[in-house]
This record gives sequence, C-alpha cells and structure tokens, in this order.
Amino acid sequence: MRYTIAVVGATGLVGRQIIKVLEELNLPVEQLIPVASSRSAGKKVLFRGREVSVKKVTEALKAKPHIAIFSAGARLSKDYAQKFASAGITVIDNSSAWRNEQDIPLVVPEINAHMLNKEHKIIANPNCSTIQMVVALYPLHRAFQLKRVWISTYQSVSGSGMKGIEQMNNEREGKHTTAAAYPYQIDLNVIPQGGAFDENGYSEEEMKLVHESRKILSISDLKVTATVARVPVKGGHSEAITAEFGKDFDIRNVRDILSLHRGIQLQDNPYNNLYPMPLFAEGKDDVFVGRLRKDLFSKNTLNMWVVTDNLRKGAATNAVQIAQYLIANKLV
Ligand code: A2P
Repeated sequence: MRYTIAVVGATGLVGRQIIKVLEELNLPVEQLIPVASSRSAGKKVLFRGREVSVKKVTEALKAKPHIAIFSAGARLSKDYAQKFASAGITVIDNSSAWRNEQDIPLVVPEINAHMLNKEHKIIANPNCSTIQMVVALYPLHRAFQLKRVWISTYQSVSGSGMKGIEQMNNEREGKHTTAAAYPYQIDLNVIPQGGAFDENGYSEEEMKLVHESRKILSISDLKVTATVARVPVKGGHSEAITAEFGKDFDIRNVRDILSLHRGIQLQDNPYNNLYPMPLFAEGKDDVFVGRLRKDLFSKNTLNMWVVTDNLRKGAATNAVQIAQYLIANKLV
C-alpha cells in the first residue's frame, strides 16, 4: 500500500522540513501534494529529486489524499481541517487551532500515540516548546511521578516562520522590515512575549505549555509555571526546566533513564563544556538534555537544560512520526 500525502503550507519553514522528513523517514508516499497560498501559484517544490507543482488547498481537498499535514497557520486549519476530515482524509494539524478540543488527540508519538484509532480524523501536533519539554520529562515522570514544573524558554526566531527570520536578518543588515514578527527589534535583544497576554498576565505561548503538557502526559492537575522569551537565535529552542517529583531520585539514575530513551540525547558533562546548544541541534531530530543537577533547597527537584531544533522534532518530525504511526498501524 502506498499513500497520497498533502502538505498544506509546503513553501513555509515547517512545510519544507515536513517534505524533507517524509523523504528521510522513507514514508511510503506514492504522491505528494504540496499546498500553498495563491501567492505561490506556479511554484514547484522538490520531492525525492523531482519537481512537484504547488496546488491550492481546494485542489488538494478534491484529490482526497490519505493524509493531509497542515502547517499554514490556525486560520487555515480552522477553515479547512473539518472539510478534509469530512471527506475521509486524516488531518495532522501543526497549528494551535484544535489542540485544546477535548475529543481531538494531541500527540507526541513516543508518549501517547497508542490512543489513536481510525475514528480520529483530526490529530493535533503540539507546540514546539511543549514537545521538547514533555519528551524530556516523560521518562522521568514514569519513574518518579511528576508534580510541578517551572520552565523558562529561549525561543529562536524560526518559531515565528519566515517573518521571524526575515525580521532578524533585516535588522542585522540595516534593512527595513515591512511586516515585523515582533513588537520590538529582536536582534541584540530578548523579548519576554510569546503572543497576546491574558487577563492574568500570561502570554499565549506560556499557557500552551500549561494546557498541552497536561493533556499529553495525562496529568490533569500538573502545575506548570512558564516564562517564554524570544531570543536572537536563528533556529533551535532552549529551555531551563525545574521539575519536582513525588519520589526522590538519584542523579545517576536520572542520567541512565534519559540516556536509554529513544529520541533523547544526553549531553551532560559540564566540566568538559558539554551541554546542549541550539547551534548544534540544527537539522537533528533528538531532544538534547544536559546541565542535570539536583535542586539545592527543594526536595525531589531536578534542574535541566533542554534544546531541540524547533522545526524538526518541535514540528515537522513529530508530525511525520504521527503519519508514520498511522500508516504502520493501518489507521489510514
Ligand atoms: P505561501 O508561501 O504561498 O505564502 P511560514 O509560517 O514559514 O511563513 O509558512 C506559512 C505557509 O503557509 C506557507 O507555505 C504559506 O504559503 C502557507 N499559507 C499561508 N496562507 C495560505 C493559504 N490561504 N492557503 C494555503 N497555504 C497558505
């Protein structure tokens, strides 16, 4: 059996990675349908060495692919995901449009793909910062019972799509940006804002870390305090995470658990300057974990530093791994 897969947002930063990961993971794709806006009419994308013409979303819907991976923003997902689902197409949605809907699964395959069945026609891909946080915490939660998390993020500009990279590059070259991604200059700066603020003073990106981690880890009362900041780094998000567990742990045991977990790479030898950094995570699919240390004052509490390529495991790779799971388990 070979599959037709549409990638909606194929000309964007994440969309292009999705196509690359489909090739790299060698999914059984018979036909790729790349989709973008009318601005991209006539454009072509490369898939397995061949040029494929970019289509409109309505054309992709008519073609009835087995799977459509959406990464073109929440507006388009709200408008089209249900139309695709009603046509029997399984949608893997990388936007925030459906993540908090109760009956829509929010999936990081190594944690909760087992909950998927044929009836799930819209599957949400979590936010990039959430994915790397829960991948690092999940094996430790299984061993020591996660209770509370404090997290500060250092998010790169590629998390804001082309607009983010363009703004930073323009600032570096002294050029004007017409549609800025951020309310302030990002180059030589750190902006403590991730989307709009709510009435309690938390930003949208901070609340995603709260709601999405509870849902993925199935811990409905998990306490998460998040601070999101945008930093002038091109790609790769970093996170300082403090996690409190129900059970005591030994740091050597934490190292063993993390190093045995598929998808996690331990880089934890600070005495030899070994720790995760975004510059070295680029293009890789692993979640890099280091700076492991017990808190000096609170019991059962661990500090760590977690880095991932936000366009890969934080977005494209996770979405393609969901597709891979669906295909392997004959759910599409
Ligand atoms: P386009 O390149 O034609 O604008 P990024 O977040 O990296 O900027 O990428 C956004 C992606 O979403 C791009 O591929 C963009 O296509 C696509 N997109 C935006 N609006 C639409 C739309 N109305 N229909 C299909 N694709 C869209």
